[in-house]
Amino acid sequence: MCGIIGYIGPRNVVSLVVDGLRRLEYRGYDSAGISYFLEGELQLKRSVGKLSSLEAILPPTPSDGVAGIGHTRWATHGKPTEDNAHPHRAGSLVMVHNGIIENYLSLKKKLEADGRVFASDTDSEVIIHLIDSAYQAGHSLEASVRLAVLKMEGSYAFCVLSEDAPETLIAVRSGCPLVVGIGEDEFFVASDIPAFLSHTRKVIYLEDGEIVQFSKKGFEISDFKGSRLEKEEHQISWDPVMAEKGGYRHFMLKEIHEQPRAIVDTIRGHVAQEAGEVLLSGAEQIGDLMENCQRMILIGCGTSWHAALVGKFLLEEIAKIPVEVDIASEFRYRDPHLGSGDWVVGVSQSGETADTLAAIKEAKGKNVPTLAICNVVGSSLSRETDAVFYTHAGPEISVASTKAFTTQLTALVLLAIYLGRKRGHLSEAEGKDLIHQLLLLPKKIKAVLKREDRVAEVAKRFFRYRDFLYLGRGVLYPVALEGALKLKEISYIHAEGYPAGEMKHGPIALIDENMPVVVLALKDKVYEKMISNVMEVKARGGIVIAFAEEGDTELAPLVDEICFIPKVVAALSPVLMCIPLQLLAYHIAVFRGSDVDQPRNLAKSVTVE
Ligand code: AGP
Repeated sequence: MCGIIGYIGPRNVVSLVVDGLRRLEYRGYDSAGISYFLEGELQLKRSVGKLSSLEAILPPTPSDGVAGIGHTRWATHGKPTEDNAHPHRAGSLVMVHNGIIENYLSLKKKLEADGRVFASDTDSEVIIHLIDSAYQAGHSLEASVRLAVLKMEGSYAFCVLSEDAPETLIAVRSGCPLVVGIGEDEFFVASDIPAFLSHTRKVIYLEDGEIVQFSKKGFEISDFKGSRLEKEEHQISWDPVMAEKGGYRHFMLKEIHEQPRAIVDTIRGHVAQEAGEVLLSGAEQIGDLMENCQRMILIGCGTSWHAALVGKFLLEEIAKIPVEVDIASEFRYRDPHLGSGDWVVGVSQSGETADTLAAIKEAKGKNVPTLAICNVVGSSLSRETDAVFYTHAGPEISVASTKAFTTQLTALVLLAIYLGRKRGHLSEAEGKDLIHQLLLLPKKIKAVLKREDRVAEVAKRFFRYRDFLYLGRGVLYPVALEGALKLKEISYIHAEGYPAGEMKHGPIALIDENMPVVVLALKDKVYEKMISNVMEVKARGGIVIAFAEEGDTELAPLVDEICFIPKVVAALSPVLMCIPLQLLAYHIAVFRGSDVDQPRNLAKSVTVE
């Protein structure tokens, strides 16, 4: 977590770095800081809280230009105080860091024994002291950085500036994301592309174990041993406007409304409607790798794990492949049994989630083929896996994931159809029909979005309640989990998702007039059972908010509130059903006055385990 940025070039360093930090703030917002040159001296400005607090203390004086670094923090080691805010300083050097230095305590002990005084409680500060120790001993800045990284264990990306070399910026990657942006006579390096997307779309993805040294004229990339590397440049297709709010009050609302477009983009090029088949276009390796697949293991965290749970239903139902689903952070520590015929699929919006990456590495270590379902081109996950199926949600800025989830579900439907057809479990007619339904989905989502006011009315009635229960069955059970997660992360209301059939095994004890129960009910094979669950809640004085399909006249009189979605086939119902739940969480959070896009304690990319 944490966002870092470095800039070198002729323009106003302070405003460029602050602007970049604004676009990285989703990665953490416990404190922010910046360092830049003024009259030849490195200035250090840091502030607790969001970037706006930092901006308030930045002087109107322009910097010297040339170089600057910035940081937005998600606290791991040390409270969110000014002393713990980055950049950290040692001698004439300043540094910003994203990641965790796992052996920082032993390093700190040694450095303190050498007489070094620490100003913060962070693990990060050891980095700059290590570099400065070598620098003071007469090594060049680059050599000092190389010597320091040899001693460090953990995951990190950091940028360093020296007061003695105002035209040099050094950045290092090992386990945390870092991308170089190449502009006209100017260069950027940042944790994520949106930080500089409005200035350049030409990028180089750094790999673990790489160091980049910038000057005003250019840059050189080398490995930790000092061997120079030639790296490929990539052109980013994301439009800078995609990373703006575009008139919406929050990124989350904008991203909810972008879902019809995001799904169209994810499907584009992947369907041969006449043949009832899915094309792998751009992900052809999947075809070869899947030949011997006997079992799939889907892994992910948070919302991506929920997508994986839906994926199990889709792949087992449509492609008849046995599927297991694991939370990425659990997978790796339970010594999973993996062998020939297994296939591990990492689902991740960012492609930088440390737990998901670690799980994929675990699978690779056991020689199991790996696939990523991922939104960020060039992310660590996409480079770590044997094949990638990209979702095309575009940049997702709000911490609460919305369009990333529905595009993941879309990708999983496409994968299920592809495999169903290849394995002979889905006929041409069935394939055609499912693809036809999939192509109708964006229009149906638009219809749900048009009913936003109705969901907002429900939100207005219930936003003061403290606990919610979400119930779903079958493929809608993961959607209940996702609805509950959306509510808790942005409104801080306690919410739990349950498979409705489990209610009588415990949660029913909680039912009373103070805990609204959100029921997801479609006219499917478990509809009658769901009606029974509703009756059980009502019999205990509970409140039911139902989300059901148009024309359901049976459920309406039984519940307190009902919102409708268009009719949809079971396989695609999670996509449609999660939209009103996203809107419900959003409007409840707005009524409660929460910070919707940047909820407390959270960060968009969880790059620490
Ligand atoms: C969802 O709203 C959260 N932001 C979170 O659960 C997220 O889905 C999780 O951290 C996984 O992120 P990833 O998809 O980038 O791997």
